[in-house]
Amino acid sequence: MTDKTQSIHGQWSSRFAFILAATGSAVGLGNIWKFPYITGENGGGAFVMVYLLCVAALGIPIMIAEIMLGRRGRQSPINTMKSLAAEAGADPRWHYLGWCGMLAGFLILAYYSVIAGWALAYLVKAFFGVFMNSNAEEIKRLFENLMESPIQQIFWHTVFMVLTMHYVMRGVQNGLEKAVHFLMPALFVILILLVAYAMSSGAYEQGMAFLFNPDFSKIDADAVLTAMGHAFFTLSLGMGAIMVYGSYLPNHVSIAKTTFFIAGADTVVALLAGIAIFPLVFANNLEASSGPGLIFQTLPLAFGHMGGGWLFGLLFFVLLIFAALSSSISLIEPAVAWLVENKNLDRRQASIWSGSACWLLGVGVVFSFNIWSEVKLFDKNLFQLLDYLTANLMLPLGGVAIAIFAGWMMKQSHAEQELEIPAEGFKAWQFLIKYVAPAAVFLVFLHVLGVL
Ligand code: TRP
Repeated sequence: MTDKTQSIHGQWSSRFAFILAATGSAVGLGNIWKFPYITGENGGGAFVMVYLLCVAALGIPIMIAEIMLGRRGRQSPINTMKSLAAEAGADPRWHYLGWCGMLAGFLILAYYSVIAGWALAYLVKAFFGVFMNSNAEEIKRLFENLMESPIQQIFWHTVFMVLTMHYVMRGVQNGLEKAVHFLMPALFVILILLVAYAMSSGAYEQGMAFLFNPDFSKIDADAVLTAMGHAFFTLSLGMGAIMVYGSYLPNHVSIAKTTFFIAGADTVVALLAGIAIFPLVFANNLEASSGPGLIFQTLPLAFGHMGGGWLFGLLFFVLLIFAALSSSISLIEPAVAWLVENKNLDRRQASIWSGSACWLLGVGVVFSFNIWSEVKLFDKNLFQLLDYLTANLMLPLGGVAIAIFAGWMMKQSHAEQELEIPAEGFKAWQFLIKYVAPAAVFLVFLHVLGVL
């Protein structure tokens, strides 16, 4: 509320610290693993355009709204929504939004940790030089071997979850804040190197054409939904992660400027990953639509053949793991903050409880890549189901609820007071969250349901 200048959980040491943490949350497996593979599955250019449009027209305004609500409430999303609803004279049930967000973070982390586990497994392979001079067939076999082994995947999933819990326990300022500082720029440099390699690989133009020449006949309502959902996923929107980070943000820091920076950096990383990967896909006659294994079946080829490839491969997987860690801690932070506020636990206990529960669901996700791969609901295995439920349904709905709350429920004077932006900018933002975001999301849903 207005009289709160600080959350009980602490505060970022500066605006820069918040930018790092929020960018760390945004940039992760979503950019480097998920963006390329869903782009490949959905035909390329047109999908990328819809995604970029969604980031600009929905993602940025909703991110501004979500940070703003967090900073004004200064508590876990559930309690923030409670007190902001009281302040605005709105229905107290708005706090269920916080609950849905906590659940979404939990469901995402369950599979996020499994995929980050793959990256850990690949870090070890990179270290032992397994990719050296391998051909596409051998690299593909490596990935299939990992998929067929529940034990290996559970082992690495466990390692990643323990790392996540470790960083979450250490709290707002001592956690990743410092590490992210130099890791993000390093990740950027490595991606540029990979792009340079891709440029020399022969199929650079074909890769670029795939990514940037839109062919709208290749996408349908479901692809549009996936692109829209991914805009939320990649910016960490719609479930309270950015809200809880906003609650640790000092007053009078410009939320709008910060948001532009975060969204810009996030988009650049995703595009660079795509530009590095697709030329390799075409140069090696691989399937663009080969699914979640795409980066694991392409990038090792580059490392196996480029000069200095051993070192770069090692660095790449280390950085990917840190990018994943700085995202995973934000997936679980809303739950941890809530347990600390309401259940009298300390951060340590709260991290252990929530992390363990997530771990268990993650074991089910591991099985969905092997022994349970044929166990399906709505034609989707557990991994696909969790991904669809969270990225395509829960995040857009959560994001629209945030937009509606900020646009229609909250007093305009309070929003103005938080944002401190010029009147035209404020008007544009308000228009986007009041009308454009809700209308866009519902239109896409109606199309997917076949109503329109
Ligand atoms: N944005 C992260 C990525 O792209 C994933 C993530 C972290 C996330 N926190 C989130 C997604 C909160 C949705 C909601 O890898």
